[in-house]
Amino acid sequence: MSAFELREMTADDVEQVYPLETRLFPEDAWPRDMFEAEVAQTDTRRYWVAEADGRVVGYAGMMCVLPIADVQTIAVVPEFEGRGIGTALLEAMIGESRARGADNLLLEVREDNPRAQQLYTRHGFEQIHVRRNYYPGGVSALIMELRLA
Ligand SMILES: CC(C)(COP(=O)(O)OP(=O)(O)OC[C@H]1O[C@@H](n2cnc3c(N)ncnc32)[C@H](O)[C@@H]1OP(=O)(O)O)[C@@H](O)C(=O)NCCC(=O)NCCS
Repeated sequence: MSAFELREMTADDVEQVYPLETRLFPEDAWPRDMFEAEVAQTDTRRYWVAEADGRVVGYAGMMCVLPIADVQTIAVVPEFEGRGIGTALLEAMIGESRARGADNLLLEVREDNPRAQQLYTRHGFEQIHVRRNYYPGGVSALIMELRLA
């Protein structure tokens, strides 16, 4: 099993990240220029990529407008799932939220994604709300919160 490394995402990484996004989120992929816009806003955003075997295999990003931080995205390619990359990306976002002084970290997750929900629950996130018909196809979003304050 190969090791992985997290580092800050830059605009140059979008070339590798965008094809992963369309593969991992076929129904609700972000447009390419959204990644470019997000990584440019370093005052309120922070994004990471996970690299293994010399390529990007996962990525995540957050927004922090005090007092709230939000998980914007988190994804790992299927061939590299189950190796702790998702955990490392989530822990990076939790650490950054704390460092920026956020009171809580919020996220949205599809109701039909128990695996991601389990990852969040294990890190102390609790469901606080449901948004009906949030995703294409009428799938609801669970809003989850991690209290940091
Ligand atoms: C959710 C996701 C980011 C997790 O990434 P990952 O790198 O596999 O995460 P980890 O390896 O750190 O494992 C996280 C948990 O999943 C469990 N897991 C690992 N492989 C698994 C598998 N094949 N099936 C089910 N659960 C599995 C692990 O056991 C771990 O839980 P634990 O620590 O309690 O044992 C990844 O599955 C993913 O990108 N999914 C598609 C995109 C997505 O759903 N993103 C979230 C949108 S809100």
